Amino acid sequence: MAKVKVLFVCLGNICRSPLAEAIFNDKVRRRNLEGHFEVDSCGTADYHIGDSPDPRTIATALKNGVKMSHCVRQFTTADLDDFDYILAMDRSNHKNILRLSKEGSHAAKVFLMREFDSQGKGEEVPDPYFGSERIFQEVFEILDRSTGNFLLHIEENILNNKI
Ligand code: 4NP
Repeated sequence: MAKVKVLFVCLGNICRSPLAEAIFNDKVRRRNLEGHFEVDSCGTADYHIGDSPDPRTIATALKNGVKMSHCVRQFTTADLDDFDYILAMDRSNHKNILRLSKEGSHAAKVFLMREFDSQGKGEEVPDPYFGSERIFQEVFEILDRSTGNFLLHIEENILNNKI
């Protein structure tokens, strides 16, 4: 069975999307589903290329029992073909991803992360970069729910042999 390729996208790739990647990978490991997935994250902007995640993101993840490491990269047009699911953290990311698309078919694989949130469905994942520790924790909880529901959605499709 082909691996399901999942890409989490935010603006800088140092706060929200690498955290989503780490939380999702943690859930995948706990369910022994590593063999089924290829997971990555990136940013629409080039501000932090080559950097590690923001120390506040790493600290929030650790406080919640999730380890993370990532090297920032920028979103490219090739990602639109390479990945099966592209999960944007906010509407601006979503718009900037689709702006790079020359094929209408790409739109079907680009989602807002919180389309999978049971609380606040369709809202944006707030940008915590200029925010407090409390916002980083809120972002963790949003991503924990959203990536959990997203994984359930994929698992149902795998179990039903739709993928
Ligand atoms: P992220 O947060 O998109 O969740 O990684 C941000 C990180 C950096 C900046 C903005 C948002 N920045 O302006 O450098």
